[in-house]
Amino acid sequence: MCGIIGFSGNVRAQDVLLDGLQRLEYRGYDSAGIAYFKETGKISIRKTAGKVRDLRAICDDNEATCGIGHTRWATHGGVTNRNAHPHKCGDVALIHNGIIENYHELVSEYGLEDRLISDTDTEVAAALLDKFYDGEDAIGAIKAIVPLLRGSFAFCILFKNHPGEIYAIRNVSPLVAAKCKEGTFIASDLTAFIEYGREYFIVPEYAILTMTDTEITMQDMDGKAIEPEMTEVSWDVTAAQKDGYPTYMLKEINEQPDAIARTITPRISGGLPNLSDDGIPDSFFEGCRDITIIACGSAMHAGMVGKSLIQEMLEVPVTVAIASEFRYEPPVITDESIVIAVSQSGETIDTLEALRLAKKKTKKTLSIVNVKGSSIARESDYVLYTHAGPEIAVASTKAYSVQMASFYLLACKLALVQKKISEDDAKKFMENLQNVSDSISAVIAQSDKIEQLTKRMLNANNTFFIGRGLDYTLSMEGALKLKEISYIHAEAYAAGELKHGTIALISEGVPVIALATQGHVYSKVISNIREVKARGAYVILLSMDEKITDRAICDTHISLPKVDDRFAVFSAVTVLQIIAYYASVGKGLDPDQPRNLAKSVTVE
Ligand code: AGP
Repeated sequence: MCGIIGFSGNVRAQDVLLDGLQRLEYRGYDSAGIAYFKETGKISIRKTAGKVRDLRAICDDNEATCGIGHTRWATHGGVTNRNAHPHKCGDVALIHNGIIENYHELVSEYGLEDRLISDTDTEVAAALLDKFYDGEDAIGAIKAIVPLLRGSFAFCILFKNHPGEIYAIRNVSPLVAAKCKEGTFIASDLTAFIEYGREYFIVPEYAILTMTDTEITMQDMDGKAIEPEMTEVSWDVTAAQKDGYPTYMLKEINEQPDAIARTITPRISGGLPNLSDDGIPDSFFEGCRDITIIACGSAMHAGMVGKSLIQEMLEVPVTVAIASEFRYEPPVITDESIVIAVSQSGETIDTLEALRLAKKKTKKTLSIVNVKGSSIARESDYVLYTHAGPEIAVASTKAYSVQMASFYLLACKLALVQKKISEDDAKKFMENLQNVSDSISAVIAQSDKIEQLTKRMLNANNTFFIGRGLDYTLSMEGALKLKEISYIHAEAYAAGELKHGTIALISEGVPVIALATQGHVYSKVISNIREVKARGAYVILLSMDEKITDRAICDTHISLPKVDDRFAVFSAVTVLQIIAYYASVGKGLDPDQPRNLAKSVTVE
């Protein structure tokens, strides 16, 4: 999604803006631009389709100390210089993250046609703002247009006659701000300015910010002053850097053992799950009649694992709803339902809006979120923060694993509170959970072998991931990983379902990644694998067997560390991540920034 940064201070703004945009590249984008006040007070703009390095190439050497910067992930209008932000209209220059849903109506209602040169909704907002700006009252202009807008927005605005000042306002789309010795900062997320300081605050919705080189003031739409709620960054700037790895994704795959340890260990006392420091009382887990999990993408796949586990341990129905679907079908939840929203960024608008809908029906909403203070975390009744540290690569790896681990923690807690498990068994369960870090490390050590295996897949048009039970839920994540960073089409299939049609697609050399870690269905899965092998598939088999040499089953076997079946998902999914990673690298692609994708999807 779009990246936003604003700075007003006592050092060159251009350096702060361009470096900040570089740090926001991971959010995914297709064009970039900056606007700044020249010494004369005139607003100057530089923008281009392409990368931040292309933007740097067209920037002149200027001493401006106040400006705004933007990386655009196109929603309305193609990837062109004209559609890049900032958009300048009359006396206003503006950048935007979000979607103005009623921009067409605004154009006709306010006669803006002849003021527009781009195809974007953002330029309409700029033109409307300029229409209401009398040359002096910037805040008045903001107050005039905000009630007219429908949709999501995070705006940063420069007004002529207000040199050195940046104005901002948000609704749904995220903004954080800070004051440091160099000046004042605002951005769509912390990575843009974390090197300048650790204290920041989340910009409240509909708060109008005025930033100067020394101060940030806020007022609500009625003019009442708002004080910022300061908070501290929970990670350091190196956490958002590659630390010697070739890519963020490889670094984050390798960080998984520590990420899980940081997320789980502080929540174990006396060998049992303890969520009191998270402010989640045991009462939250009592009398739960059913559970609904709402999420998107990998977070939804982590929810699928959670569903499989919780249903088996609790014997209560668990539904995993794709957040964007949940919102438009009557949700079957009551005040006895638990709703769990899962989101790495905590800003995915589909998940946020689904949570808002769920909250109309139940007070038992809990979110599993990796970004402290994010919208989904703040709006759920309870939050279980994962401690994976910043996840920069677009493809989720460590965040997915800690989300899965969080479901294991919650499942054990639920089973204990509902007396479905003895304390002794719960202690064994939690010990197994703490040991998954070792099993992940063990398969990471096999990376070179896994890299070799992927070479046979690079020219595949179609691949299949198959398994049963927990292995089937993992197959979904494996397929997504491969698709999103190597662009090889992949499909996850319940192994027992293939023969009901899709096996027609299996022919000589089609890669099938098969998972067989669940003992209770092991022999069934092996039979399904033989079926595809007999039809020429190239089978990579993941199981906890020491060795499988029967060529009628698989072409190659990856041996996973022997653990309780329910915990094999952690090492198995790490293999799938590594397969996807080396397929991407093998095709000469950038696994960190796959085409068309954004790290946090803050538009519907
Ligand atoms: C996963 O690799 C993708 N990057 C994507 O599916 C992601 O998991 C999804 O957009 C949800 O994001 P969130 O966890 O920040 O809500």
